[in-house]
Amino acid sequence: MNLLVIGGGGREHALIWKLSQSRKVDKIWCAPGNGGIAALAECIPVKTTDIAGLLALAEEKHPDLTLVAPDDPLAMGLVDELEARGFRAFGPRKNAAVIEASKSFAKDLMRKYHIPTARYAVFDDAESARKYITEQGAPIVIKADGLALGKGVTVARTVEEAIAAADAAFGGAFGNAGARVVIEECMVGPEASVFCFTDGTHMSLAPAAQDHKPVYDGNRGPNTGGMGAVCPSGKVTPELMEVIRETIVAPTVNAMRTEGRPFQGVLYVGLMLTATGPRVVEFNARFGDPETQALIPLLKTDLVDIMNACIEGTLDRLTIEWHDGTCACVVMASGGYPGAYTKGLQIHGLGKLPRDVIAFHAGTARKDGKMITAGGRVLGITARGATLDEAIDKAYAGVQCVSFDGAHYRTDIGRI
Ligand code: AMP
Ligand code: GLY
Repeated sequence: MNLLVIGGGGREHALIWKLSQSRKVDKIWCAPGNGGIAALAECIPVKTTDIAGLLALAEEKHPDLTLVAPDDPLAMGLVDELEARGFRAFGPRKNAAVIEASKSFAKDLMRKYHIPTARYAVFDDAESARKYITEQGAPIVIKADGLALGKGVTVARTVEEAIAAADAAFGGAFGNAGARVVIEECMVGPEASVFCFTDGTHMSLAPAAQDHKPVYDGNRGPNTGGMGAVCPSGKVTPELMEVIRETIVAPTVNAMRTEGRPFQGVLYVGLMLTATGPRVVEFNARFGDPETQALIPLLKTDLVDIMNACIEGTLDRLTIEWHDGTCACVVMASGGYPGAYTKGLQIHGLGKLPRDVIAFHAGTARKDGKMITAGGRVLGITARGATLDEAIDKAYAGVQCVSFDGAHYRTDIGRI
C-alpha cells in the first residue's frame, strides 16, 4: 500500500522509519518531510497548515492511508476533509482534536468527568484574570487557551510574573490562541508522557516516556519543544501505569465518546506525578516529539496494523507488542535555540554513527549533496539498550560523532 505522512520533524522521521519496515508498505510520500525523511519517502513541499494544498496532494497521489502527525492540521480538520473525499486517515477528527486545541475544553471535560488535574479558572479579559491571580497568589500557571507552539505556558513564581504573562496573552503575544487564558494551580512532581492508541472505544497504552523540556541541564532555562526523551520512564511503575489507565486514560477516552466526539488516533496524556497521585498537565491529540523518537524503536507490531485497527474500531483484536529494554533520544539543537538561530550550516559526521545508533532528523535539509541545518531542533540521536544506562551511553556516543557550528544538547537526558 501507499502512504502519505503529514509533517516534517523528528517525530515524523521516526514514524516513517517504522512504516518503511512494514512489508505492507510500497511507497511513502511525506509533506513536507526533511533531509533525513528524504532517504525513506518522497518529500513534497506542502506546508502542514496548507489544508487545500494537502487535499490536492491526496487527490493527485491517492494514498491508501494518510497519517496526520502534527497538531495544526488535526485542529484544522484535515482528517474530516480527507474522509469527506473518501480517503482513509489516521488521527482524530476536528471535534476530538479540540482536546489539545483548546485547553479550556480539556479542563472543562476533566472537571465534568472527575479526571484528576490542577484546579483552574478560565478568563476572557485581563481585568478579571489579574484579580484572580492576586487572590490566588503565586506560584501559579498561566496558559494561552489555543495552540501556541508549546510557548503559551508560563509557570509564574511571583504574582507580578503571572500578571505580566496574562497581560501578554491578552495583548496578542500568542495571536488568537491567547484571547482566552486558563489559570491553574501549580503542580509539583516529575512529568511523564503516556500515549494511548485508541479507536474511540478500545485502548492500548504504550510504555510511558519522559520528555526533557527546559533547554539546559538540570532543567534550567526556557522551555523548548523537547531536548530529549527516554522510554520507558523509570518513574512510572507498572502499578502507577494501572492507576493512570483506570483514573485518567480510560475515563478520558470514554468521556470523549459520551460527548459525541469519539477520539480515534493517539491520545497523548501529559502527566505530573504529584504526591497525591498522577494528574493531567495537558492532553495532546497526537504523538509527542521527541518522545516518539524514543518510543517507536521499541514497537514490535506493524504500525500499519495499529493504524488500521484504530480506524476500523478493531483495536481489541490486536495485541500490540513492545521490545524489552530502554530507548534514549538526545536532541542536538541549533545555537541560540529556543531563541533565534542560524540555518543552513553543514552537518558533519552522520556517516560515522555506529550501526545501532539512529539519527532521526528534525530541522535538516539536503543541499548540493550536503546535509544542512534547517530548524531549531536539528537531530534526535537515538539508541536502544538492554538498560537505561546502556541506551543513554550509546546515544551520547552517537552525539560525539556528529557536529555542526553552534550545536548544543543536554548532557543529562534520562538522568534527571
Ligand atoms: P503544557 O504546554 O500544558 O504541556 O505546559 C508546558 C509545561 O509547563 C509542562 O510540561 C509543565 O512542565 C509546565 N506546566 C504546565 N501546567 C502546569 C501546572 N499546572 N503546574 C506546574 N507546571 C505546569
Ligand atoms: N513533547 C511535547 C510535545 O510533543 O508536545
